[in-house]
Amino acid sequence: MRFSIALIAASAAAVHAGVFTQKTYNAISISGGVAGNAENEALAVFSALDQNNLASADKADIDFLKSVNRICNDAEDKAFNTAIDAASGDAADALQRGKIKNKVLKLEATILRLKIQQAQGVDVAKDMAAELKKLNNNISQDEAQAGKPSTSLSFNASTS
Ligand SMILES: *[C@@H]1O[C@H](CO)[C@@H](O)[C@H](O)[C@H]1NC(C)=O
Ligand SMILES: *[C@@H]1O[C@H](CO)[C@@H](O)[C@H](O)[C@H]1NC(C)=O
Repeated sequence: MRFSIALIAASAAAVHAGVFTQKTYNAISISGGVAGNAENEALAVFSALDQNNLASADKADIDFLKSVNRICNDAEDKAFNTAIDAASGDAADALQRGKIKNKVLKLEATILRLKIQQAQGVDVAKDMAAELKKLNNNISQDEAQAGKPSTSLSFNASTS
């Protein structure tokens, strides 16, 4: 009896599993390279998500996107802000560009999470408007620095 219940649970999990797999912060970071293309780089991180069928996204996908937001926030607080305070000149500017790219990644995760919730009937209009404004402002900041070097920082954290 116990055995068959476990089997049912396992197959249910397989059918409804999310599309994302657990990743380290370093694996999803887009902060390196150059500024200017953060939006596309962030979207590439989430390319497993079928944006034409968000209503069928799994709770695990929502959790993944929330955890991306959380670890990007932690990286900003504990890695970028500290490093920027300690740096100056070109090095500080490149770190700042990496921080903005990290914000674009974080906010893109938030927007996708809100889009899923919207597709699933949750009223997120207010949050959506506020977060989209932040995202678009950060994308503009990234684009304004296009082609200039951007620094990534290693940070020990993982998504759900
Ligand atoms: C960039 O996003 C952050 C949220 O992470 C927000 O607080 C900030 O205001 C945004 N930048 C601009 C210029 O709007
Ligand atoms: C990363 O964090 C985990 C969990 O907190 C810890 O066990 C591990 O030792 C850390 N790794 C490094 C390289 O600091």
